[in-house]
Amino acid sequence: MTLLKLQNIMSYEIGKRSFLSRPPEPPASALMNDPFQAIYIGTTSIFKIPFSWSFLNLANPHIGVFGITGSGKSFLVKTLLRRANYVWNSNAIIIDFAGEYKSWVEQTRGKVISLAKGDYLNIMDLAGMKPLDRVKQIITSLDILTDIGTYTLQQSLTQDALEQAYVNEGFVLYENPPLGKEVPTLKNVISLLEEKLQEGTYEYPAELESSIHRLRQFAREGEDYFARKSSLDLGKLAESGLVDIDLSGLPDEKFRALAALFILQTLKEKMRSEGWSESKGLKAIVVLDEAWKVASDERSDAITFAREGRKYQYGLIVASQSPLDVSETIFSLMGTTFVFRLKDENYVEYIQRSLKFSDFVKEDINKFGVGQAAVHMTFQTSISFPSTFVLEKIHGEGPLFVYSLDLTDVLTQSEISAGIIQKEYQLERDEIRNKFIEYNMNVENINDIFASFDSSGRAMKILDFIRILKSNGVVNPSIVAFLKSLSIEDQIITRIISYSGGDAKS
Ligand SMILES: Nc1ncnc2c1ncn2[C@@H]1O[C@H](COP(=O)(O)OP(=O)(O)OP(=O)(O)O)[C@@H](O)[C@H]1O
Ligand SMILES: [Mg+2]
Repeated sequence: MTLLKLQNIMSYEIGKRSFLSRPPEPPASALMNDPFQAIYIGTTSIFKIPFSWSFLNLANPHIGVFGITGSGKSFLVKTLLRRANYVWNSNAIIIDFAGEYKSWVEQTRGKVISLAKGDYLNIMDLAGMKPLDRVKQIITSLDILTDIGTYTLQQSLTQDALEQAYVNEGFVLYENPPLGKEVPTLKNVISLLEEKLQEGTYEYPAELESSIHRLRQFAREGEDYFARKSSLDLGKLAESGLVDIDLSGLPDEKFRALAALFILQTLKEKMRSEGWSESKGLKAIVVLDEAWKVASDERSDAITFAREGRKYQYGLIVASQSPLDVSETIFSLMGTTFVFRLKDENYVEYIQRSLKFSDFVKEDINKFGVGQAAVHMTFQTSISFPSTFVLEKIHGEGPLFVYSLDLTDVLTQSEISAGIIQKEYQLERDEIRNKFIEYNMNVENINDIFASFDSSGRAMKILDFIRILKSNGVVNPSIVAFLKSLSIEDQIITRIISYSGGDAKS
């Protein structure tokens, strides 16, 4: 019996077999889902299939988003959150390290909690949890963020004092707390340790002193963001629509990570206590953007959250510039990964090794512009098609930002008084951005131009604008094309170019 059969074939036949020249995309049946149970994201680059995301057939609802600054990570996250809210009524909690979602959340009438700018979190708050569980979590956080793990005596001193503080307020350690009962703060815990030190009978006073010192960094006057009564109802975080927890005001990474860990712990307990429900969608989505310490540590509650999320219909989105900042466990729990342009060849290779996509996709990633991404999905059952494909562009719906260009300076008095020539041109940010992308401007330059535009109240005189374009390396033919695309008359364009010191052909 022959196993292999040779066949004569014409080269154009080979050309038609797309797998030989391009990696095929997943079939439409895997990309187009029930519109009432899926989120539209964009069209695929080869066959232009509209891709709508659903986690129902995926191993996990969690999403990883990787890309350089300005590549479109947050834009995608906002698109996902907004549409998940339309489709499934999903709540969202953004753990916002850089405060970059704040204005968007305000615009969409969500709730912004700005720690260190008027809002506080008491890390001893129970939100329905048993005090003993909270104590364990506080110790784990201190273990991740400080060196307490290496000093067993200090660890048990701290643990005992935390428990004692709850007992002193009338809590039973292993029972769910009564509603509305006032909880202690880290200041009470520190006082207990100080009293013990003053009694002078403890055998190892130096250990006591170190324990006090470690806790005090989170309870100092002016930096006691975690040692005061909470200014928000933690139990309601996952049912309050869109919530941005802005951590950018906290003094350093350690404080930000402590807040993030605390919030994840609270949400994890919340989802466990709610249990499973019949609803098809996601109840809540938690976003961790640039939270490297929280996403990279294998002891972090981000991992437990991700492990149990599917069961309880909670999704996790982790966005980062570097895929290496995300722990392998979290990485393996991502049902979907979006890969935007990456900064470093090492990152691309790491992602390629983990997700096992073809060199074609890899080459595409290296050429991506803003908003373009490769998507990888891990299905529940084995599949016979490639699990990574490229999206032409994320079709999002960012808020509208209108920018205006004022032409008065290049018009004559008579033109202005006759009112026949348009003096002001208004454009939407994405429209301008798309034009810049067409002119092959790099992300840094585009961001610079918008920064100048934003700092002048989104309105600029045309000549100032042209100067900024030039200083960012935009050449005259591109400037002319840009002005033409606004339907500015040729004679005015010639004037603009010559007033700004150039001739239209150079
Ligand atoms: N698909 C897209 N369509 C249109 N505009 C986009 C798209 N993706 C991103 N943008 C725009 O590009 C800019 C940068 O995008 P974004 O803030 O999402 O970048 P980022 O990857 O989150 O960067 P950083 O790491 O600095 O937070 C934003 O002004 C955004 O509106
Ligand atoms: Mg971002």
